[in-house]
Amino acid sequence: MKKLWLGVTLLLSPVVQADLLRIGAIGDLNGTECQALYPSNSITSFETMISKYSPDHVIFPGDVVHGECLSYSGNEPYRSVVARMWAEFDRRFFSKERASRTLAIAPGNHDAPYIAPGTRGRETFEVENAAFKTFWLAKEKDLGLDRVFVPGHEDNYPFFWAYLYEKVLFVVLHSTKSSGSISDATRQKAWLRALLKTPEAQAAELRLAYGHVPPYPVLDPSVGSKYSAFLKSEQSGQSNALVDILIDGNVNLLVVGHSHAPYPGELVRQKDQKRLKILSLPCSHSPRALYSKTARSDRGFAIIQRDETGKMLISIKNYSTGKEIPYDYYPASIDVKSSAVRYQRIARDGYKSLAITQNATVPYSHARALVMKPDYALVRGKVSWFGLRAMRRRE
Ligand SMILES: [Fe+2]
Repeated sequence: MKKLWLGVTLLLSPVVQADLLRIGAIGDLNGTECQALYPSNSITSFETMISKYSPDHVIFPGDVVHGECLSYSGNEPYRSVVARMWAEFDRRFFSKERASRTLAIAPGNHDAPYIAPGTRGRETFEVENAAFKTFWLAKEKDLGLDRVFVPGHEDNYPFFWAYLYEKVLFVVLHSTKSSGSISDATRQKAWLRALLKTPEAQAAELRLAYGHVPPYPVLDPSVGSKYSAFLKSEQSGQSNALVDILIDGNVNLLVVGHSHAPYPGELVRQKDQKRLKILSLPCSHSPRALYSKTARSDRGFAIIQRDETGKMLISIKNYSTGKEIPYDYYPASIDVKSSAVRYQRIARDGYKSLAITQNATVPYSHARALVMKPDYALVRGKVSWFGLRAMRRRE
């Protein structure tokens, strides 16, 4: 009877192939400026993501250390304090997990505060930018990622650059200004346009860009000045806007932080109905109120999965329970005060998790190992999650 049940579920339930990909996205881990220690909630959030979802690859869209220090008066040289910030990031997050998965970061305003090329910045900002560059140059060989280079257009690693991982093009954006245009805009956008035309970008199954400051607001205006911390000059319809470059370059998803509120959004360009998904990440420790809300949103992180058809499934999780924030929590749309676009919640089927993450009967890493074993290649190399759960129970 058990065999019959298994056979029926294999035929009727969704099939899964071996090229699943799970990406963890977590940002805004930092606490008080000018020091090195993390808020405990940030550590909890990262550990929940790792223990419950074991992502193959983790992206940090910025604000992972405690810089943008406006003035420093401690006895320890500030250069040494910033070095400790990165050592702590390494110990708590990067090196702690590097043996099990790959990890990469886009800079945030607290990691590498923007200093226009060829100009001098605040002394503390100069120290922070130098430390950011030093740390990530030292890590470059250990990233385990396949860099994509653009002939005739130099990237600016570790500020903006690109890589391939499991047939996904990841575009790291330098988005550390909290208003106006993206950082180093002229050079970065020329590189980005050229990157999205490369054979590597064209052949990628998914194109995912991530950077810190978003192009559209997601907060409720009642939060005050933070409501306006977005890149108005990069909105669709502005001259040479980042958002139009991403849409016209067929980027599927933009992941951003900085706002400290989750919103799985989809931007629809009114003139041609072309779309760009924008995932605004929750903060791990200091949440703010989402558009139309009076209370602060949940702390958390996001999981992005590629399913068996190549479709991206996004879900946003609570920082301590790992449970999904209900789809109905998000407002159906956000008024971004632009006639050029509509900004709406993504469709429910793009937001939901695979059943395996909701039931968690088989750990993901174990499930993938089972799929790779020929003994379990039951239906033309494919096997259902339900089938996997049945096999797990029979072991
Ligand atoms: Fe930020």
